[in-house]
Amino acid sequence: MKKVTAFIGTETRRGTYRAVQEFEKGLLQHGEVDFEYVFLSDYHLEFCRGCKMCFDKGEQYCPLKDDRDVLLQKMELSDGVVLATPNYAFHVSARMKNLLDRIAFINHRPRFFGKPCTAIVTQGIFGGGAIVKYLCSAARYMGFRTASGCCVNTLEPMTEQQEKSLVRKTRKAADTFYKELNRATPPPSFGSLMMFRLSRTSIKNIDHDFRDYQHFRDKGWFESDYYHDTRLGPVKKMAGGLFDLMAQLMVRLRQARQPDSRGGG
Ligand SMILES: Cc1cc2nc3c(=O)[nH]c(=O)nc-3n(C[C@H](O)[C@H](O)[C@H](O)COP(=O)(O)O)c2cc1C
Repeated sequence: MKKVTAFIGTETRRGTYRAVQEFEKGLLQHGEVDFEYVFLSDYHLEFCRGCKMCFDKGEQYCPLKDDRDVLLQKMELSDGVVLATPNYAFHVSARMKNLLDRIAFINHRPRFFGKPCTAIVTQGIFGGGAIVKYLCSAARYMGFRTASGCCVNTLEPMTEQQEKSLVRKTRKAADTFYKELNRATPPPSFGSLMMFRLSRTSIKNIDHDFRDYQHFRDKGWFESDYYHDTRLGPVKKMAGGLFDLMAQLMVRLRQARQPDSRGGG
């Protein structure tokens, strides 16, 4: 049975919880799913101090001792992930942003390949659509592939029409997510392939003591076609070669401008 975990960025058991519950019901209409609700407020997560130890030396050197790794392990043990948050001042809640900050090293060393992620955002009036896009983009940087999520209006008291809209939108998001949950990992898009090739060339040229360099080297990412095993067709193979050349040129130009600027971060 597939395991899906929803990380919820509010402690209220109101609109966001309700939307996630409807999403879960939508998944269960398709088949059995082991669904877990993780309220971030139930975990101890300190604010990032910006020391960059996780980027430079490795996440195990983070000076904060809290539940970060408990939450990370929950992501790792899931087949799919939901990021759910209310719209607070036109962005994710501080709890959700703090989680994303604390695991930002994964943007440098992505790991969640083959897993779908989606976003559920609740709001009073407007601005939530951009938040859904933001969360999906953050998830892609971590290696997830994303299923289009949804934004629902949950300001109380909800009208009958809003209630219906909540059910319709969350069920639609669940349908899309369920398909992704059961789909084999597709080859990377041109955009993802380009990002991979540019990142790896840039990382190849940083100090070899940096964790990103060692991680890419140990994973064989300096030589591989992509982060994970995949079959690139001839056109993408050729595009990959061009992206590598482009990346080398960019690194040379940067070095010519700042000959002593090797470093990470
Ligand atoms: C601090 C705070 C800031 C908010 N900012 C916005 C906002 O910028 N735009 C909006 O449409 N709704 C905003 N809202 C409304 C919430 O997004 C909305 O009520 C949501 O349903 C709350 O989720 P909950 O019911 O799960 O607690 C805000 C609510 C709070 C408490």
